[in-house]
Amino acid sequence: MIQRPRGTRDFGPADMFRRRKAERAMRDICHRYGFGEVVTPTFEQSELFTLRSGQSIVDEMYVFKDKGDREIALRPEITASVIRLFVNEMSNQPKPLKLYYVGNCFRYENPQSGRYREFFQLGAELIGNENPETDAEVISLAVNCIRAAGLQDFQVRVGHIGVMKSLALSGVQDPALAGRALRMIDKKDFDAMGDMFDANSLSRNLFDRITALAETRGGTEVLDDVEDVKAQQHLKELFEILKLQGVEDVEIDLGIVRGLDYYTGMVFEIDAPRLGAEKQILGGGSYTLSELFGGEAVFSTGFAIGIDRVMLALDAEQEAPEYAPLDAYVVPTEDAMRKYAFAIVSKMRSKGLRADVDLMRRSMSKNLKYAASVGVRYAVIVGKEEMSKRSVTLRDMKTGEQKQVPADFVAEELENSLGKGAP
Ligand code: HAM
Repeated sequence: MIQRPRGTRDFGPADMFRRRKAERAMRDICHRYGFGEVVTPTFEQSELFTLRSGQSIVDEMYVFKDKGDREIALRPEITASVIRLFVNEMSNQPKPLKLYYVGNCFRYENPQSGRYREFFQLGAELIGNENPETDAEVISLAVNCIRAAGLQDFQVRVGHIGVMKSLALSGVQDPALAGRALRMIDKKDFDAMGDMFDANSLSRNLFDRITALAETRGGTEVLDDVEDVKAQQHLKELFEILKLQGVEDVEIDLGIVRGLDYYTGMVFEIDAPRLGAEKQILGGGSYTLSELFGGEAVFSTGFAIGIDRVMLALDAEQEAPEYAPLDAYVVPTEDAMRKYAFAIVSKMRSKGLRADVDLMRRSMSKNLKYAASVGVRYAVIVGKEEMSKRSVTLRDMKTGEQKQVPADFVAEELENSLGKGAP
């Protein structure tokens, strides 16, 4: 047997039913906020990501040469692609541009629960500005997507990368070293950072100030100690707008650094505390990338939700909903009725019901057993005698109750019994 590659997964119909439900709910929120969907290629020239996405992402990329000797990467994230699309084709459109996407991403990571080599993101990018209003709009969209997916237990943390960056750069002149320090802060690996500071004779006092800032969390009052007045004012205004948008359970966390290198201002993350090590279900912030890709300088703010982690968090919070793939299953009582069964199933499908018909030429009793085992709600039994009266038997597979209904109205009768129109 051939196994699937490490770090990838297959999803069966019951899984996909749940995933699509959550995804549909989140897409619906994006549309309500005026975001339109875009789709970009699954692979890009690797340069798109090596330019600014940051060393940790580049180390994890799937890169290969194609037959034309071009260096190609499977996308590790989708933000860079969206900004490339903006620069290539949309830069003349009136701003702000509100774009969202759903797609698979690839990172060569050490697979574990919640960390995969192929995973799925739903993300949004607001292109045009980075003022408190745009940041609030994006955070509020993110929070409402997570709420719409059905998750209740999650924590939103908002910070500002500029505060940490300027502190780190104030004492670490070598940009490569500063970059390493920021990656260590992102991973909260202060032992390694201490060793690096010692090895490079960097100030212990700076080390203490960085670690203190990295641990600074709380309400807006923690901003009072922030020296960067612009960042302080930005976050305060942002929090006021969020409150007016009904997004109140938000914490300031000045230790958020993010694993990607392109952020310039506000940064935010959402965690699902019930998940273990991989509890971050969303990451985002404001950034500039367009100039780097040959376009005008435009500020953007965006985020990406890890759909796989949202699903794991939902599993931890609630029972999986019952998956009933079929409303009805048409069972002919004898061979002579098989063809007629197709006319009946076809009518039900055209009415929007999820309906199936026996294709295995089973006996009636085996068909009823099959219908019960796959979770069909109603069996529609088509017998010769009933058909002579132009009726069929409707059997409720939960209660076993049966009734005769006119063959021409079986779809309407089922719709009424199911208490809904098209599923
Ligand atoms: P990111 O933090 O690298 O940000 O990824 C966003 C989310 O994708 C994470 O919070 C996590 O839930 C999920 N994720 C990341 N790696 C994996 C993995 N190996 N397995 C499963 N889930 C994973 C970005 O990708 C940015 N593009 C977000 C952004 C958009 N910033 C601005 N705009």
